Amino acid sequence: MNSRQRFSKYILIVILPLIILTITYWLYFDYSIQEERKAKAEWIGSVYQKSIDQVIRETKGNVEWLSRNSSIPYMDEKSKNQLLDSIKDTDPRYADIYLLDREGMTIHSTSKQPPQSKLIDHEDMDLAVNTQKAVMANKTGIDDLNCTCFTIFAPILEKNKEVRGFLLVQIKFDYLKNILNTLSPEQTVKLQTNEREKVDDINIGNVNPSSRWMTLPLTEAEWSISVKMLKKKDTQNIHIFYSFIFFTFIITHVIYIIVYEFLYRRNSKKQKQLIDDQKLNFVGTLAASTAHEIKNPLTGIKGLVQLLNEKHPDEQDQFYYSIIMKEIERINSIVSEFLILGKPMVQNLSSYDVRGIVAELRPIIESEARFYCIEVEWDIVRSPLPVYCTKDQLKQVILNIAKNGFEAMEQGKNLTIHIYQKKQEAIIEIIDTGHGLESNDIQKVFEPFYTSKKEGTGLGLFVCKRIIELFNGTIEITSKLSEGTTVMIRLPILKENVSK
Ligand SMILES: Nc1ncnc2c1ncn2[C@@H]1O[C@H](COP(=O)(O)OP(=O)(O)O)[C@@H](O)[C@H]1O
Ligand SMILES: [Mg+2]
Repeated sequence: MNSRQRFSKYILIVILPLIILTITYWLYFDYSIQEERKAKAEWIGSVYQKSIDQVIRETKGNVEWLSRNSSIPYMDEKSKNQLLDSIKDTDPRYADIYLLDREGMTIHSTSKQPPQSKLIDHEDMDLAVNTQKAVMANKTGIDDLNCTCFTIFAPILEKNKEVRGFLLVQIKFDYLKNILNTLSPEQTVKLQTNEREKVDDINIGNVNPSSRWMTLPLTEAEWSISVKMLKKKDTQNIHIFYSFIFFTFIITHVIYIIVYEFLYRRNSKKQKQLIDDQKLNFVGTLAASTAHEIKNPLTGIKGLVQLLNEKHPDEQDQFYYSIIMKEIERINSIVSEFLILGKPMVQNLSSYDVRGIVAELRPIIESEARFYCIEVEWDIVRSPLPVYCTKDQLKQVILNIAKNGFEAMEQGKNLTIHIYQKKQEAIIEIIDTGHGLESNDIQKVFEPFYTSKKEGTGLGLFVCKRIIELFNGTIEITSKLSEGTTVMIRLPILKENVSK
């Protein structure tokens, strides 16, 4: 990976996810804070709403009760004044109490300067007359101490239920404000009519026009209460947000390192594979061009040595000739392996019974075994095992593996050749009791040119693997150090009858 590729991967794996995750989390974070503020404002608003409704409801009840149960209309002036004063003193919420005639004009009041204008308008008066219940007036007023008040009045009824006048009380907004302030002193609150006209407010001084409000309607008056949503910074959530960014930063870097490592390994593996392929190609070309040239003179030498062998029956000479012949055979086998590498691997495949091939190979393996002083056990299934292969090549594979087994064992040990069927596969198992392999080396044995032997080619198992793969089979090796090695070949069994 060059530095440009590395940089683009860094952007893709670290920077981009970091930005996307941060923005997403920030939006979610902001949304959840807004929702939290909304819920809090809604809760405060509903507490305020209930408190104001409660005050209005209570006052309406009181005024209604007084207007029905007192005998105000029949009292003299002094008693009327005394009664109104005593009502005013009973409750701190009351500013002034008024007694109005049927037309809404003030007859008596606790106020020192009762207003000249009417305190209630016609609509409200008609409503009170028709319902014969207490009504909250739309108009707000000002008491003697210049405080804003709102008005509740109830009709005073004759015995025949005719309306004789009205008992009116003014309630101080300050009383309401005190209640709301005790609930939450910092909260900014607006009280408005349903037509959005200001009634009163609390802590409105430093309100920003962009502030968001939660508005709830009152049930006892045609007003609504609006509570400002707090804009306080939520430090705990901010810390969670920073931790999130920090961990995302770490995690994306860890992912980057893993991906980088993975790509690096994959690249080196590819490069190694490329080098091996190049090596093979070279050897293949070399083998193809020279193997025949070596084999021909070799056959000539072999024939001549045989002639000499017959000509000199002396025991010492015979011994030398046998060594020459063996060495010639060795050269022959190495050249044969090279030939396989050089040859194109497309061969004429036919169906063969594995048992038949093994039967032909048995004398060769047994003579090899005798040479190494090793006992071979044969465990061959009775039923046919038809597979698709090239006879000579399968023979070569089994012989190669058996030879490896002999070479790994000490004299007197056992090698088992086990041939059986498992599901739809013919299995050829060659089990030796030799020195075995370390787990690290097991991975390497199928690589070309890997050998632990002084005179080994390192091509035996590599060639075996290529041949078995050509037959659509697999080859596996399992081994335990000092215990032995098992090579297992699996070949798919053919459904039709064996032809040879
Ligand atoms: N049965 C076995 N027991 C222990 N080691 C083995 C066995 N078969 C193969 N090997 C190891 O695998 C290597 C490669 O084998 P192979 O490809 O046949 O090449 P060569 O026999 O020429 O070394 C051997 O050198 C040996 O180290
Ligand atoms: Mg070998």
